[in-house]
Amino acid sequence: MDRIRIVGGHRLNGTIPISGAKNAALPLMIASLLTEGTLTLENLPRLADVSQLARILANHGVDYTIEGKRSGDSDTQGQTVHLAARQIVDTTAPYDLVSKMRASFWVLGPLIARCGEAKVSLPGGCAIGTRPVDMHLQAMENLGATCEIENGYVIAKAKNGLKGGHISFAKVSVGATHAALMAAVLARGDTIIENAATEPEIGDVAECLVKMGAKIEGIHSRTLRISGVTSLHGTEHTVIADRIEAGTYAMAAGMTGGDVLLKGARADNLESVLATMQKAGVTIDTTNEGIRVRRNGAGLTPVDVTTDPYPGFPTDLQAQFMGLMTKAQGTSHIRETIFENRFMHVQELARLGADIHLHGDMAEVRGVKKLTGADVMATDLRASATLVIAGLAAEGETMLHRVYHLDRGFEALEEKLQACGADVTRISG
Ligand code: EPZ
Repeated sequence: MDRIRIVGGHRLNGTIPISGAKNAALPLMIASLLTEGTLTLENLPRLADVSQLARILANHGVDYTIEGKRSGDSDTQGQTVHLAARQIVDTTAPYDLVSKMRASFWVLGPLIARCGEAKVSLPGGCAIGTRPVDMHLQAMENLGATCEIENGYVIAKAKNGLKGGHISFAKVSVGATHAALMAAVLARGDTIIENAATEPEIGDVAECLVKMGAKIEGIHSRTLRISGVTSLHGTEHTVIADRIEAGTYAMAAGMTGGDVLLKGARADNLESVLATMQKAGVTIDTTNEGIRVRRNGAGLTPVDVTTDPYPGFPTDLQAQFMGLMTKAQGTSHIRETIFENRFMHVQELARLGADIHLHGDMAEVRGVKKLTGADVMATDLRASATLVIAGLAAEGETMLHRVYHLDRGFEALEEKLQACGADVTRISG
C-alpha cells in the first residue's frame, strides 16, 4: 500500500490549480442515467472515486469514453468524458460495488425515474458516522414509489412511473436532495422540494439538468420547484471548481506560511471558510484568477467554529481547520454537527504533538508552539488531507499510511504541493 512522506518546515509559495469538484462530478455522472443522449462532462477530476463510479455506471449500461489528452494540456487539467446510457441493461446496484462508495447509492432516483424500478444495495456504515438513507426513501415514496428493504437491498418500484409530489426534508441532506431532484425531473407533474440542500454542487447538477431539458426553479435556494418532463437529452457541462480542495490548500498555506494562488477557486462558494481564516489572521485576496492566500511570520489567532450545511462552515473542512488551529496562540472550540463520528483525525494529530480534548461533539484545541513529525494513518479522505498539511507544518518527517483515502478525492496532491516548494513524496508499495 502506498505511503506519503512529508518533510515539514517549508513555506508554500506558488500556484495550485484547483480541480473539478468530486462532489459535483459524482452526481453529474449519475445524471447520465436519466437520458438516452450523451452527457459530456468537462473538467472531470482524475480520482479513484470517479473511476469506481464509472465501473458502477457501466454495470447499468452506461458507455463511458475518456477523451485523449490534447497537446498543451497539463497533468492537472481536468478530463473530458462522454457518458451515454442508450439503454439501461441492469437496474440492480450490487453490494460489492455500492459498498465501495456511498454516493453510488444515488443511482436509486434516476433508475426508478427512467425504468420504474431499482434494486440498490444499502451503503452501510462508514468511518464518519452511521449515515442513514431514510430521507432518500421518503423522497422516492413522496413521488409515488414503493420502497422495501430486503436482504440489505432497497427495492423500489413505480410501475406506472413516478408522479410529482411534495417533499419536505426534516433536515438538510446533500444526497437526499440530489436523489429527489434527479427523480422529480422525469416524474409526471409538479414537485416541490422543501428544505433542500444549497451546497454549490447541488446547484451545479441542477444547472446541468436544466441544460438537459429539465424544468427547475429556485436553483441555489432551499425550495426547488420542478415540472416533470417526459424525457431529457444530452448536453455538455463543465464541473465546478472543488471548494473543499481549495479550502484544504488554503489551510495548508495558513499553517506553513507563504503565498499561494489557488487558481480557478471560487471565493463566492467559500465565504464562511475564508471569513473564518481571516479572523484567524490569514490574509485572503480574491483575484481574477482565483483566491490568493498569504501568511507572514505573524501568529494565528484561535477562532471557534461550528459545522453547518451550506452556507455554513463545511464539515468537509472541519478536520483541516482543526489542523490550522493546532498552531494557534490559544484555545479554539470546533463543533461538528453533521456527522457524529468525524473526529478520527484527533488522535492522529495528537501523534504530531497537537493538544486536543474531545467533549461530545466539540473538540477543544489548545494551540501548541510546534508540531513534530510522526507515523500517522487516517480513516477518511479529509482527515488524510489534514495529516498531510499538518505534516507540512511539523518539524521533521511525517509518514502518512493508507494513502488510498486521499486518492479518492484529491487529484495530484503531491505534484500540486511540490510545485509550491513542499517536500512531499509518494512511496509505492
Ligand atoms: C455529502 O454526503 C458529501 N458527499 C459528503 O462529503 C459531505 O460531508 C456531506 O454531503 C455533508 O456536506 C458527496 O457529495 C459525495 P448528507 P451525504 O446526506 O450526501 C443525515 C467527502 O469527504 N442523513 O448531506 O451522504 C446524515 O447522517 C464526503 O467528500 C439522514 O439522517 O451527506 C448526516 O448527519 C464525506 N438520513 C446529515 O443527514 C438520510 O437519508 C447530512 O448528510 C440522509 C442523510
